[in-house]
Amino acid sequence: MVVAWGRSWHEVPPEIDLLFRRFARPRGRGVTTSVLMNMSLTTNSSRIDTTTDRRAVRADTVITALHTLSRELDAAPSLEPGPAVDELFDRLVRLVLAVPDACVAEIMRDPAIAVIGARLRELCARGETALETAWAARIATAATPRAELEQFPYLDNYRRLSRMEVGVLASAATTRVRSVAFVGAGPLPLSALFIAGELNVPVDLIDRDPLALDAAGAVAHTLGYPDLRLVEADAANADLSRYDIVVLAALVGTGPGEKQRILAHLASAMAPRSILLARSARGLRTVLYPAIDVDAMTAYDVLSVVHPVNDVINSVVLARTSSGQ
Ligand SMILES: C[S@@+](CC[C@H](N)C(=O)[O-])C[C@H]1O[C@@H](n2cnc3c(N)ncnc32)[C@H](O)[C@@H]1O
Repeated sequence: MVVAWGRSWHEVPPEIDLLFRRFARPRGRGVTTSVLMNMSLTTNSSRIDTTTDRRAVRADTVITALHTLSRELDAAPSLEPGPAVDELFDRLVRLVLAVPDACVAEIMRDPAIAVIGARLRELCARGETALETAWAARIATAATPRAELEQFPYLDNYRRLSRMEVGVLASAATTRVRSVAFVGAGPLPLSALFIAGELNVPVDLIDRDPLALDAAGAVAHTLGYPDLRLVEADAANADLSRYDIVVLAALVGTGPGEKQRILAHLASAMAPRSILLARSARGLRTVLYPAIDVDAMTAYDVLSVVHPVNDVINSVVLARTSSGQ
């Protein structure tokens, strides 16, 4: 397939522009930003008429649009949240969600998508970290932190994803859960806080970045979770043998082969017959977050894989470690 590299947004093909407009998010929720990051995630976009769009959307134009977005994000002076950066991420996520399933296989077969996807995942990881860092500081320093949290544009998205995850976990936990580790908690550890609240269980926040942990600790403390432990460790060599459940964030292990190496380590570092909930992605959503190769998880008993059919972006893989005998 020939990819028309180098178009600017002024030259976006009409069918892609149509997708963007269909997925335009309503404004006016008290914030002007519309970035759809962390969203480990969901958006509030409406469903698409796939019958019409299957005819209208061509794989090469989607790839061109993704490439253009990647170049524009690359050219941004910083990925800190702000109107220009928010707009680019907003377009990216809306595009990913809007492309009809019927086109996705062809897009994913194109060799160009591997290169563009790798770059976009890197940019998304940086953008998400910047967004979380900015909001963590806002919440931790606010006079009324809970009121500030309510201003976070994607609070509901976090809640919806966490509810999905808690539901998946409940399907596997046969005994009372006593301890949870959230690996890759990030500066704004809302998912971990929701899980702690929903399961009424202590959650250790694990991250390899001490600055992310400082920010996460301040947010947890200010929101009334003073007892959560902060653990500075790399998923690639952490000891996780004291937990009943380990949650692995989507952005832990983004480089080539890294996710697999981390999953291999966790299989031996977790307690025998403990539960792993690992965030993944499928289809075109893998340009935002890395996919887990479930077939390669031979050291685990894979219990279920949930691919949302709504606008939640992350899939989740639920697995149990072996008995260790
Ligand atoms: C941006 S946060 C957000 C988490 C996000 N909600 C998700 O599901 O991925 C991702 C965090 O993962 C951490 N991280 C990335 N790789 C890691 C690793 N190998 N071990 C521990 N933490 C890691 C980063 O430091 C960062 O703070």
